Amino acid sequence: SRRRITVIPGDGIGPSIIESAVQILDKVGCDFEYDYAQAGLIALEQDGNLLPEKTLELIEQNGITLKGPLTTPVGTGFTSINVSLRKKFGLYANLRPVHSFVGTKSRYENVDIITVRENTEGMYSGVGQIVSEDGNSAEAKSIVTREGARKIVTFAYELARRENRKKVTAVHKANIMKSTSGLFLEVAREVAALYPDIESDEMIVDATCMNLVMYPERFDVIVTTNLFGDIVSDLCAGLVGGLGMAPGANIGEQAAIFEAVHGSAPDITGQDIANPTSVILASIQMLEYLGMNDKAEKIKNAVTEVIASGDRTTRDLGGTAGTKEFTQSILERL
Ligand code: NAI
Ligand code: MG
Repeated sequence: SRRRITVIPGDGIGPSIIESAVQILDKVGCDFEYDYAQAGLIALEQDGNLLPEKTLELIEQNGITLKGPLTTPVGTGFTSINVSLRKKFGLYANLRPVHSFVGTKSRYENVDIITVRENTEGMYSGVGQIVSEDGNSAEAKSIVTREGARKIVTFAYELARRENRKKVTAVHKANIMKSTSGLFLEVAREVAALYPDIESDEMIVDATCMNLVMYPERFDVIVTTNLFGDIVSDLCAGLVGGLGMAPGANIGEQAAIFEAVHGSAPDITGQDIANPTSVILASIQMLEYLGMNDKAEKIKNAVTEVIASGDRTTRDLGGTAGTKEFTQSILERL
């Protein structure tokens, strides 16, 4: 029987870039059966719920989800849907690869970095968020567990081994955040000792940001806690042409959700100018996760060629094409 995939088009530019990705998956003969589900603002409007029960069931049933960006309404009473999904399905690893494409407006040529971000703990645990009664002070709790740190660092080293990567850099701030970041670094060192075949490095997060901008070629796999991973991976996206080029996989034991790193981009919604590369690259991550490496490779080559040719790319890449035309040129290559 055909593999079923849950597809969440999402909000803003989501439906149009997800459509691009699905057309491309079909074109290379993936033969998936798609279960479309809703979440985000559109689900709130139609269902009265940002994250309908039916959607949760489909994510669980199929195990694999391709997801567009979701808008979380600002204001009290709404916790981030993405944070909820990650916690609900225990998606503890967030994998954010970036690599240079010829033909983008990036300043660098040889960037190839995967950020492995811990996805459920740290500053984003969502616990202990308190504002004092007079509104003049606020606090939040960061939780790092030995088990959580061990799982994510092990994940990073296993990934490095599988993909023949040379180095894992643990990024931290243990000099200041002695308890939380200190525990993370302690565990990172313990795990590093189990992988003598892979070079291990450690770096303080602020120095990491500077070094990423000056010497991105020195980095290979980065493993870090939730907040640092969020920030550092956006910095990495900036090294290769921006958010339109950055996919992210959220992986747990029972489920995996593949998405773009960026949001719903309300400022450009409905104009047919969004760059769909982010979700196309996310679908490549999905194929690799499913062991469909030949199809992943085909799509990667077609995207690479179209971007390198430079004529029918989107505006953020320096071209003049819309989302549809850019997608069409990839489909034609395939
Ligand atoms: P954003 O990532 O949506 O947009 C930031 C800037 O990048 C905008 O100028 C946008 O036009 C541009 N951009 C983003 N993706 C692009 C693409 N594919 N092609 C061309 N340009 C692109 O961030 P923003 O505006 O802060 O957030 C908008 C909404 O998205 C918020 O409601 C936020 O909560 C949500 N969001 C959702 C995420 C998710 O579902 N994974 C992640 C981040 C934000
Ligand atoms: Mg982010």
